[in-house]
Amino acid sequence: MVNTLNRTAKATGRRINHVYAPRGGCKEIFDARQEEVLISGPAGTGKSRACLEKIYAVCLLTPNVRALILRKTLRSLGSTALVTWRNYVVKEALETGQVVYYGGSSEHPPQYRFKNGSTVTIGGLDNPTRVMSSEYDIVYVQEATEITIEDLEYVKTRLRNWKIGFQQLLMDCNPAGDKHWLKLRCNEKRCVLIESRHEDNPRLFDLLPDGTHKVTPQGAKYIEILDNLTGVRYKRLRLGLWVSAEGIVYEEFDPYHHVLPWNYDEEGNRLPLPEDWSRYWVIDFGLVHPFVLKCYAEDPEDGCIYMYREIYHTQRTVAEHAQHILDIVCPETTIEWDDHINRVKRSRTERAWIEPKPVAIICDHDAEGRRTFEKATGLGTQPAIKFVYDGINLHKERLKLDKTTGIARFYLMEDALVERDQWLVDNLMPTCTQDEYPSYVWKVSADGRIQDEPVKRDDHGVDTDRYLTAHLDYKGKARVTMIDY
Ligand SMILES: Nc1ncnc2c1ncn2[C@@H]1O[C@H](COP(=O)(O)OP(=O)(O)OP(=O)(O)O)[C@@H](O)[C@H]1O
Ligand SMILES: [Mg+2]
Repeated sequence: MVNTLNRTAKATGRRINHVYAPRGGCKEIFDARQEEVLISGPAGTGKSRACLEKIYAVCLLTPNVRALILRKTLRSLGSTALVTWRNYVVKEALETGQVVYYGGSSEHPPQYRFKNGSTVTIGGLDNPTRVMSSEYDIVYVQEATEITIEDLEYVKTRLRNWKIGFQQLLMDCNPAGDKHWLKLRCNEKRCVLIESRHEDNPRLFDLLPDGTHKVTPQGAKYIEILDNLTGVRYKRLRLGLWVSAEGIVYEEFDPYHHVLPWNYDEEGNRLPLPEDWSRYWVIDFGLVHPFVLKCYAEDPEDGCIYMYREIYHTQRTVAEHAQHILDIVCPETTIEWDDHINRVKRSRTERAWIEPKPVAIICDHDAEGRRTFEKATGLGTQPAIKFVYDGINLHKERLKLDKTTGIARFYLMEDALVERDQWLVDNLMPTCTQDEYPSYVWKVSADGRIQDEPVKRDDHGVDTDRYLTAHLDYKGKARVTMIDY
């Protein structure tokens, strides 16, 4: 590949020194020509890099190719694939001006433009209008287990630019449950499945002349993190297996049904939930473990709950989190006026709420944490109802889909996370509540029987959901009035 890229660049008068040598599954996906291809594998095998390098090579080698890089939400793409794209794939081409970035306009989505007329458009399936009005030769969907089968079919209708000899939907993912629609689609051979392994990534393993692999120092550290994972996360992210957790607590939870897309205005801004819906905040305190603060809105008509904002972060104090949430919901504004008597301009800053105040702030039983939060925000809090088994059952009821309407009574809004915690990403831990639901399991006794008690691990986000459900649905609960001071 190196030679090919250098030759092409020379023809245009500039030499791009770009090196990429794919191995194993990553090489297979690089060379694949089928219409629908998925590369799956454990964490960090080089899947995304291989897909991005393929897009780059195709665009560089053929003029006027149109490629699209997509993820379920545009925001999540920015923190993952695009970092690899900019830092490793198009780095030299950006430096030499062979590729330039165009930030987008009301008509055109953001894209990377090649000197030969090829373009790589960037988009999210959460707001697809601008990107889906065009036709493409190759579309790469990152973390394809996040999208729906309808999304996939929609994307495929856009593959008809025909500037190259094949039109391709390229996808990557870590494995999900064995019954996931994408895995079933591969089983039915409607999509070609390519497996990748850690040995495919030269950062993690050196390939020795005799064909065996030797772990690199960076690889040893990474594999140690993976070896410390447990349960279904270990099986998927270390072993690359498509498996569902055994004894999963919230079997009713299905992202397809329970994670809702936002509505957007014409400028692409999320439309907030209605002003007259009651807001609740729920907090699970933590410092080494994630601190979780979630904001929920309740539809007054049917009592349905929508979780629309989530702070999920380690290594920050309660006071810092309190400041953070205040900056979001009631940012500081500066008011200026003319002091005519003294003939000077004066100003003062004050906070103004830009969304409804919560009618209750429900907290984990951490007296110190609650006091600090109350002091920093001036808002009262109340302790959560913590009956675990009853709370879980009530929450399961909310997640159940009504048999006739297909509607649940509890939803997570898509991409509600305020900021992804890089420490959690680097340590392959859940980074938001949605990550916890599939791996939250019941304890199993030594003789293999499932207990009435969940495993206390990666449960910070699911606990906050349970606290809110218990607050709303637990019969005979003590009524506690919110003190606002
Ligand atoms: N052939 C290669 N040569 C050099 N670096 C590579 C190669 N393949 C992967 N890498 C680097 O290894 C890191 C991990 O790769 P990548 O993000 O593509 O893995 P992944 O399989 O998509 O991970 P995840 O499962 O977390 O999505 C990236 O920094 C990438 O640039
Ligand atoms: Mg990836």
